[in-house]
Amino acid sequence: MARKILVLPGDYIGPEIMTEAVKVLQEVDARFKLDLELEYGLLGGAAIDATGQPLPPETLASARSADAILLGAVGGPRWDNVERHLRPERGLLGIRSELKLFGNLRPAILYPQLADASSLKREVVAGLDILIVRELTGGIYFGEPRGIRTLENGEREGFNTYVYRESEIRRIGHLAFSLARKRNNRVCSVDKANVLEVTMLWREVMEEVGAQYPDVELSHMYVDNAAMQLLRAPKQFDVLVTGNMFGDILSDAAAMLTGSIGMLPSASLDESGRGMYEPCHGTAPDIAGQGKANPLATILSVAMMLRYTLASPAAADAIEQAVSVVLDQGLRTPDIYTQGQQLVNTSAMGDAVIAALRA
Ligand code: IPM
Ligand code: MG
Repeated sequence: MARKILVLPGDYIGPEIMTEAVKVLQEVDARFKLDLELEYGLLGGAAIDATGQPLPPETLASARSADAILLGAVGGPRWDNVERHLRPERGLLGIRSELKLFGNLRPAILYPQLADASSLKREVVAGLDILIVRELTGGIYFGEPRGIRTLENGEREGFNTYVYRESEIRRIGHLAFSLARKRNNRVCSVDKANVLEVTMLWREVMEEVGAQYPDVELSHMYVDNAAMQLLRAPKQFDVLVTGNMFGDILSDAAAMLTGSIGMLPSASLDESGRGMYEPCHGTAPDIAGQGKANPLATILSVAMMLRYTLASPAAADAIEQAVSVVLDQGLRTPDIYTQGQQLVNTSAMGDAVIAALRA
């Protein structure tokens, strides 16, 4: 039976990178006889423009019935002035939450060809392979109450609630530990347990979960130190597990170790392994429409989709291998360009990946 992939291109560079990712997906679909059926939907700003809502009911219904979702990126200045609850980001957060995609996997792998594109010294990042496991449907992103209120003296006050239930911590903990078992058996849990009660509980529960994985080494680190260590000696980490907001921040930092956030894919999984796949980067309004966007993060997200949801590891390997080949060939979008390489635009990069798949 055909498997349905919902494609949500999103805003600004979203559609540009998605065009390339879809070309690659169609290529492996034909080659590996995956029997995929693509359906397109609207999310974020594009959905606001067309329907007035960032997550239209039709999109949510398609998402629920899809085997996997491939997302570009959403948001941008064009919708800065819409009401808070209608912001494009609310569409993304809504789909994560409605589909219970609690487990966000953000691998930061340095392709050796890009060691000089990183802002860090080659020896600090060479061979880097870490996995950030970010809790995606809880924490301060979703905690209630939230809002902006006016106090009696007329001053306005913004407030959010940082809350985690034991069950939420346990669930993301199990995911992190089981992934560590397929890697180097080390989990570092990142919290702010010296200040925040919610992460004191996080640390306790991680200890309890860790006890069930005696073969995996568990350590803890405060988030401020983790940010510093990521820049100082990132190779000390194997799997980093953390809450929603810390994971958001640390994954951008980790991205830059790899040369460019334009290289970082991600998977957001529910309890049964169904998932949404998207690059870690945003919509890059400043370069939209100029063919400058790097499609590799989205193409690598396709590979993650094949590996984690569609159980086609051979197709996933083929894509990752093809990406490595184009980097070997010296092809670079502006974000990963270093002197002596060949500068290419978004679609030429996609074409090169396809050529490498065919070779
Ligand atoms: C990410 C993004 C999103 C987040 C935004 C666009 C809501 O930064 O996926 O990391 O904060 O989760
Ligand atoms: Mg982010």
